Amino acid sequence: MSNATPITIAIDGYSSTGKSTIARSLAQHFGYVYIDTGAMYRAVSLYFLRNNIDLHDEKAVGEALEEITLEFKIIDGQQIIHLNEEAVEKYIRDQKINSVVSPVAKISAVRRQMVAQQRAMSKGKSVVMDGRDIGTVVFPDADLKFFMTSDIDVRVKRRFDELESKGVETTLREVEKNLLERDRIDSTRADSPLKQAEDAMMIDNTKLTREEQVEIMISMVEKYNK
Ligand code: DC
Repeated sequence: MSNATPITIAIDGYSSTGKSTIARSLAQHFGYVYIDTGAMYRAVSLYFLRNNIDLHDEKAVGEALEEITLEFKIIDGQQIIHLNEEAVEKYIRDQKINSVVSPVAKISAVRRQMVAQQRAMSKGKSVVMDGRDIGTVVFPDADLKFFMTSDIDVRVKRRFDELESKGVETTLREVEKNLLERDRIDSTRADSPLKQAEDAMMIDNTKLTREEQVEIMISMVEKYNK
């Protein structure tokens, strides 16, 4: 049941901690809008890759950003990211994007544009938003903040299974290397690094099933809404 006053729920955490699955379930349960901010950085990365944009060329990056329109459209009840009107979900989860997205997300001009769009998309709505800087930068005054973590082995296995189910050939070692490298870049960048907001609740889901975790978070939202 949604509240009369819009509520903002921020979910941050490391790569492959299951943030988006949980955020989606939570949004669905309460009828809130789900915004996958990682998909936005991934779509920008896809545009940069397709157009051979040099990430160190500020002018080229700025001009490319002006050419990019991102939008979530609801298709079969799911929020699907569109890059300049094209549904790009099927292109943004592969290893090529995985290896370029953190360097792209380091660029301040990219972050400024994404943060402005994320705030605009949420205006007047109850939202669950997941990412790396939601509770710290995008919505420092979010009603509820969660910071998700889990052991690296669990995250690697989760990501590996996901890629395998999509027919992507990889190894556990390769997946681990990419996850650790993304975590390193995401948490050490100068502009809005990944970190737990002081008022965020830490959820370590290493030993929790998805259902157990969703249950815990639903009860926290219900408590807040009372
Ligand atoms: O959540 P994800 O794995 O789809 O995110 C992809 C990358 O985008 C991640 O490595 C860091 C970046 N990102 C970010 O910097 N800020 C966000 N709010 C969301 C994602």
